[in-house]
Amino acid sequence: MTHHPLSPRLDHCPESLPREAYIDPRWFAREMETVFARQWQCAGRLADFPEGQLRRLILGNMPVIVIHGEGGIAAYHNVCRHRGAELCAADRPVGKLITCPYHAWSYSAADGALVATGPARPTADFDRASHGLLPVAVRQWQGFVFLNASTAEVPLAADVPLATLDNWPIAGLSVGHLWEKELACNWKVFWENYSECLHCPGIHPELCEMVPVYGEGIMGASEALGWTPEQPVRRNLREGAESWTPDGKPCGPVFPQLTQEERQRGYSFVTVWPSLYVVAHVDYVRAVRIVPLSPERTRLTVEWYFPEATLAQPGFDAAQVASFAKTVLMQDGAAAEMNQRGLSSPAFIRGRLMPEEYEIDRFHRWLLKAMAAAA
Ligand code: FES
Ligand SMILES: [Fe+2]
Repeated sequence: MTHHPLSPRLDHCPESLPREAYIDPRWFAREMETVFARQWQCAGRLADFPEGQLRRLILGNMPVIVIHGEGGIAAYHNVCRHRGAELCAADRPVGKLITCPYHAWSYSAADGALVATGPARPTADFDRASHGLLPVAVRQWQGFVFLNASTAEVPLAADVPLATLDNWPIAGLSVGHLWEKELACNWKVFWENYSECLHCPGIHPELCEMVPVYGEGIMGASEALGWTPEQPVRRNLREGAESWTPDGKPCGPVFPQLTQEERQRGYSFVTVWPSLYVVAHVDYVRAVRIVPLSPERTRLTVEWYFPEATLAQPGFDAAQVASFAKTVLMQDGAAAEMNQRGLSSPAFIRGRLMPEEYEIDRFHRWLLKAMAAAA
């Protein structure tokens, strides 16, 4: 036995996904139908949905509208119940009614109920109550808005309990820096790269300096050969560093509710496949949102959140704080694009995962299970 039974390392080298999973429009369409239209998707922050506004979004293959009305946030399919016209062609302020531009059926913006059928005069067999807008589920967590177009009850779950970040007041933080980037890769290639550190020594010199264990090609001590649970827990960050900032120093006041262990850890990650991961530091929080645009294009939206007291510091430069993680993300983006260029060659059939890539294997099994369950 070269590794302890409690180590996350795999005891074999499984196959990766086949090439078509990364390039084939039919595979992509199946993912949109089965995963992105049926799992929770992070649609942004509450602040991205101002009160009185209607916004359009796509969940997988489903166009939806999100309305922030007096009763909070509600979402519906962007489809008229009469003959299926698109209800809303643009983001706009919303009043009491949403009226279809085709034959003027009107729905209540508060609850989606069908209120009027325009000039049409339905006969007695038409049941108005069963022709309201089709709802889309909405959930909020720490100021993030999640949508789910599935008609089944799907729990909002992450790789670790969502309560992991309970001591961070994320809902009350403000965006100090935003970075958007379109990558020439399949969305899964980005997640796979995020899920292993074998690439860290070669691709991330600055990060490996900050987090020495990454320099060993692993994400945590428990992955090392010879690790046993009795070994003392090591600090993640290099000596003297407390946060992912260019100099390792907190960029403002440290969040007061954090435990000693949370401060010591240096970062806490929560991953909500397939659309979001959140990284919480002692002084700020960062979120990365992933939206697939096509089989070989993916949009990243990265936001850095700070307390007001931090943003108000004289001379505070959020872009400078963000530059550390942005450097790492740009290195990851370039690696993902390099990976995509290679695996699109017909010479590539499928890859092989290494024991350290247990998280990629878990991701693949999650994806295939979600696709099969919905099919
Ligand atoms: S399709 Fe909307 S009112 Fe006819
Ligand atoms: Fe990386």
